[in-house]
Amino acid sequence: MMRLAGLLLGWSVAWSACAASGEQVYREVCAVCHATKFDKAPQLGDRKAWAPLLKEGQHVVTAHAWVGARNMPPKGGKSDLELADFARAAAYMARAAGGKWKDPDAAMLAKMRAEADGHRHESHGNHK
Ligand code: HEC
Repeated sequence: MMRLAGLLLGWSVAWSACAASGEQVYREVCAVCHATKFDKAPQLGDRKAWAPLLKEGQHVVTAHAWVGARNMPPKGGKSDLELADFARAAAYMARAAGGKWKDPDAAMLAKMRAEADGHRHESHGNHK
């Protein structure tokens, strides 16, 4: 019994060490554009740039960024990035600009996926 508890504890510690925080993902993947004034990328902590996005809503904005928008590459240019990690990084940036976005839970991720799928179909045939 004790061994099982130890195993479970070890597993949960290893798991939380693996899941990257929004800030980590932001620094590794997004900062190269979102902290360098690249094109029209809304910058970290720029409340003016983020205000209209915060109004639009977390699942819509995150889904549109995830599939790519103009010079914003799909998945932030990291093709093996998970939606959950991408969405945490987006929420981190939104919070830095005064937003109240939470790290997404399963229900929020499902809404983002639905929004992203709809977007893909709309723009079918328009891909570069
Ligand atoms: C190669 C540069 C680049 C990288 C890397 C990048 N972005 Fe962007 N991002 C942009 C640009 C440029 C825009 C503005 C697009 C536009 O509206 O013209 C943008 C816009 C956005 C938006 C707003 C989308 C909207 O609806 O206007 C979000 C959210 C976003 N990025 C999140 C992220 C996240 C999260 C990451 C990292 C996982 C990331 N970006 C990585 C360039 C980048």
